[in-house]
Amino acid sequence: MAILPIIVAPDPRLKAACAPVPEVDAKVARLMDDMLETMYAAPGIGLAAPQVGVHKRVIVVDTAKPDEAARPLKLANPELIATSDEVKSWDEGCLSLPEHYAEVVRPARVAVRYLDEHNKKREIEADGVLAVCLQHEMDHLDGVLFVDHVSALKRNMILRKLRKAKKLGTLAAE
Ligand code: NI
Repeated sequence: MAILPIIVAPDPRLKAACAPVPEVDAKVARLMDDMLETMYAAPGIGLAAPQVGVHKRVIVVDTAKPDEAARPLKLANPELIATSDEVKSWDEGCLSLPEHYAEVVRPARVAVRYLDEHNKKREIEADGVLAVCLQHEMDHLDGVLFVDHVSALKRNMILRKLRKAKKLGTLAAE
């Protein structure tokens, strides 16, 4: 496994749509493992392939608390198949927008269909932080960041600060 560099916004690679994988082969499975290792090292609870510069529909999440056993999920071609009418607001962050947070409103519960690391079709129902995390990571596959869900004023403020931090070299550009 390998820890991959995480791309920090603003960056056009975070705005590009990703292509489905034809199947989860050894190469995709290795990408999933590398992404998990990268996510744990960051540390974070979710990571999408475009954040490491790979434009494939692959995400990894693990919303286990620090005192709980790891619960890694590796998902290829994830699709939302159902969402609740009930919504919930969550203070979201992102490894590609380090140190910035904003309240985002999303459906409280979701059902997601995907291919697992063995290329097996699966479905998962989620609520709470896992529902938030799955929706946040799936957004990345369409070039959508959590700041795209908040006001332009707040979005521009965060992106301006990140641009400045990159210029000052206080954040790694990649
Ligand atoms: Ni993110």
